Amino acid sequence: MMKMHLLLRLLLVISTLAAQEQRRVYLREEFEDGDGWKKRWVESKHQPDYGKFQLTAGKFYGDKEKDKGLQTSEDAKFYALSTRFKPFSNVNETLVVQFSVKHEQGIDCGGGYVKLFPASLNQEDMHSESKYYIMFGPDICGFGNNKVQVILHHQGKYHENNKTIKCRVNKDTHLYTLIIRPNATYEVKIDNEQVAFGELEDDWDFLPPRKIKDPYARKPRKWDERLQIEDPDDKKPEDWEDFEFIPDPEAKKPDDWNEAMDGEWEGPLIPNLKYKGQWKPRIIDNPNYQGEWIHPEIDNPKYKPDPTICHYYNISVLGLDLWQVKSGSIFDNFLLTNDEEFAEEVGNKTWGMRKDIEKQWRELYEEMEKKKEAEEAKKRKEKEEAKKDDIWGLEEEDDEEDLDEEPGNDGQEGDAERAFLGKNEEIHVDQKDEL
Ligand SMILES: *[C@@H]1O[C@H](CO)[C@@H](O)[C@H](O)[C@H]1NC(C)=O
Ligand SMILES: *[C@@H]1O[C@H](CO)[C@@H](O)[C@H](O)[C@H]1NC(C)=O
Ligand SMILES: *[C@@H]1O[C@H](CO)[C@@H](O)[C@H](O)[C@H]1NC(C)=O
Ligand SMILES: *[C@@H]1O[C@H](CO)[C@@H](O)[C@H](O)[C@H]1NC(C)=O
Ligand SMILES: *[C@@H]1O[C@H](CO)[C@@H](O)[C@H](O)[C@H]1NC(C)=O
Repeated sequence: MMKMHLLLRLLLVISTLAAQEQRRVYLREEFEDGDGWKKRWVESKHQPDYGKFQLTAGKFYGDKEKDKGLQTSEDAKFYALSTRFKPFSNVNETLVVQFSVKHEQGIDCGGGYVKLFPASLNQEDMHSESKYYIMFGPDICGFGNNKVQVILHHQGKYHENNKTIKCRVNKDTHLYTLIIRPNATYEVKIDNEQVAFGELEDDWDFLPPRKIKDPYARKPRKWDERLQIEDPDDKKPEDWEDFEFIPDPEAKKPDDWNEAMDGEWEGPLIPNLKYKGQWKPRIIDNPNYQGEWIHPEIDNPKYKPDPTICHYYNISVLGLDLWQVKSGSIFDNFLLTNDEEFAEEVGNKTWGMRKDIEKQWRELYEEMEKKKEAEEAKKRKEKEEAKKDDIWGLEEEDDEEDLDEEPGNDGQEGDAERAFLGKNEEIHVDQKDEL
């Protein structure tokens, strides 16, 4: 009796263990080892002038060391950098692609996405036409054009997500997560919140639609789609005056009117004072309304389920293949795993830890920037006024001196920034103590 019980428990433990997918982490890159990343990431030489990435936490952050990531550092450049890991396949396994990106420059036009490549990619020759499996992340260009791209390769073609997913356009770090499951469902999360989910088949044009309109179905000729009609029982009142003009009752046929010559005499018309306008029957709801006719659908004979959608083999390289007008985006916390829950936990421990402090600091930073701008504008205005008053050009020389001083001014600005950063470091520490 006792033994039986133990055996059952043991079986239960074994079966739950077997049911659980073993956690696998294919890539985890958090840039915690200084220059170490330079050994793990390869810059493409396909073009001679790709923009440079630098390791930095940026202008505001939660933790100056932990929040370091790869930042695009040159304006109006293409970027092509990638890192390799042991090849894996997502067949029969969940695939989670996760990373964070901070557009602290206030991005106007540029990519913030990653690409997953097959092992066959030559990293030194990676470029925008290199074959990839998945492209995922925010893509921003111009007002209102801010979406999360989820482009998936299938049977030699790239398929864009049909369902538009808006990305977050501000200067804070955001966490982007794509989950593709073995049951052909997907989920996109921003900041660990679900923003899109569904079946891969429904939201990408991988296959012809499952249902089509029945080509033989026709709307019956007598189908009544009129919501309202004129009331057939409504009759024009007998005394309704609908002549706008009537013959003048006072007018008389001229004595010399000759009907044979002049035709029948018609007197002049005068406005009818009792004219009520044209009569119209009242409008009522159509008692025979049948609703809008719906075209019946049938199974699409061209549709065939394809169990190999998003089955990728030898996934082995993650790349940043981007164009940016205004640089400054910082990429961090890359994670590829088969474990959704683990990815969420890692997101909580990285993005989740920094977000509040970073936001407070960002707000302070923006306030300082605004003040600095206002001061500069004031100085410029004073200078212009002085010029206007100086009608004799007496202060011309002074102006030239001012120009000579420009580099010095820059130095002062640098000092101000350093002072500001120092100040914020204090704030930063204070906030940490509170946590
Ligand atoms: C995936 O699972 C199916 C069904 O269990 C199995 O036939 C197939 O071999 C598996 N494929 C891989 C690559 O593991
Ligand atoms: C697919 O798998 C997920 C996670 O295991 C589950 O929540 C979801 O209900 C499944 N969907 C379908 C359509 O099987
Ligand atoms: C995707 O969008 C295209 C164009 O708008 C449309 O023709 C197609 O039916 C859509 N596919 C799915 C799967 O919704
Ligand atoms: C994966 O890569 C290995 C080694 O390069 C190769 O032998 C194998 O054919 C590849 N598999 C697929 C499905 O491409
Ligand atoms: C992540 O954080 C959220 C919010 O605090 C929490 O609800 C969730 O359970 C956490 N997830 C994991 C896997 O730790």
